[in-house]
Amino acid sequence: MLKPEANELVTRTGPGTPMGALLRRYWIPFLLSAELPEPDCPPVRVKLLSERLLAFRDSDGRLGLIDEFCAHRGVSLWFGRNEQGGLRCPYHGWKYDVTGQCMEVPSEPVESGFCRKIRLKSYRCEERGGVIWAYMGAPADEPPIPAFEWMSLAASHRYVSKRWQECNFLQAMEGGIDSSHVSFLHSGDLHTDPLHKGTKGAHYQRDRKPTFEVIESPGGLHIGARRNAEAGHYYWRITQWIMPWYTMVPPYGDNALNGHAWVPIDDENCFTWTFTYHPVRPLSEAELAAMRQGGGIHTELIPGTFRPAANKDNDYLIDRAAQREGRTYSGVAGIAMQDASVQESMGPIQDRAKENLVSTDNAIIMARHRLRRAALAVANGETPPALAPECHRVRSATFVLPAGVPFATARRDALLAREGVAPTSI
Ligand code: FES
Ligand SMILES: [Fe+2]
Repeated sequence: MLKPEANELVTRTGPGTPMGALLRRYWIPFLLSAELPEPDCPPVRVKLLSERLLAFRDSDGRLGLIDEFCAHRGVSLWFGRNEQGGLRCPYHGWKYDVTGQCMEVPSEPVESGFCRKIRLKSYRCEERGGVIWAYMGAPADEPPIPAFEWMSLAASHRYVSKRWQECNFLQAMEGGIDSSHVSFLHSGDLHTDPLHKGTKGAHYQRDRKPTFEVIESPGGLHIGARRNAEAGHYYWRITQWIMPWYTMVPPYGDNALNGHAWVPIDDENCFTWTFTYHPVRPLSEAELAAMRQGGGIHTELIPGTFRPAANKDNDYLIDRAAQREGRTYSGVAGIAMQDASVQESMGPIQDRAKENLVSTDNAIIMARHRLRRAALAVANGETPPALAPECHRVRSATFVLPAGVPFATARRDALLAREGVAPTSI
């Protein structure tokens, strides 16, 4: 349970909020490279942490993320002309480069130097792993680029998608932290989805009463969920949570690894990023085809948008017959939309004063606490955790251990990203 003030603190991420100040200390994945495919391509409207911005790629391929609105009289530069090293406002021709610097004010004499005094807000961008990242904090605090394993793999080994989710980022991320829901919400799919069925992991999740052991890691939490396996043994699923908004899903069999980033658009919307990757092999045509069709934990989108085809306006295409017959547990098809439907149903920002938490929510309690602590620390001038690339070089894992053996010491190796070594997964 969180009192209203505490809930405000962890869910509000706009400029001037403590959580907003914390999140601005991290690199933020915000566009697929394919959204800005080539020099001088059309710009893209971006809303991040409640700021309205515009991303573009100039004639030399340089990336810019600048204030969406022209410094002259506030026209949206989305209507601008991307030409010859800058973006030109279509109203009176003021032109800006990728740093937001005004390059030209056609009405004023060049000698006046007027345009040099005009500069739009801008944030630095970097491109890694097929994703464009922004840093929105103070330049002096800029951390190294994140070092998630999927970012440095060959493009053939990964598949990245994003979808718009119509709720606050925290309740979406809490779904990624909470692996106890898998035995219910996703139970129908574990035996039918092409990327889950037939694995031992899908079989062991019939035990619907996992016991959790949560351990602080340098970058966040190792979340161990233990279920009964063969006599005297436990089946462990280890989820990683990495500050501030990354989760890694425990794997199944030889399937690829999966991770998410839950990035606030504003306080009532977020982007759910999904990263699927295999550290030692290319993804197969069958896997890619399944994901493109919304399989695994990806989803089908309305063409030309990032809005899922099943969304709150059509009740996520709920199928009560499928629910009754257990083909899907909730009646909503697909793991991603099962998650989105329940998380969005909590309302744009969940009222955590009304919740009743139980022991399987321990990891959620710890993550909230860690975020809150970090936000307060940053407000006191301290450096936030998980900026160091080592914090990102972790993996989710699944394995069986004899009862009584602590997972984090027995399988320390399995929790680290190791180049050229296959994931630990059953
Ligand atoms: S409003 Fe942009 S140039 Fe006038
Ligand atoms: Fe889920």
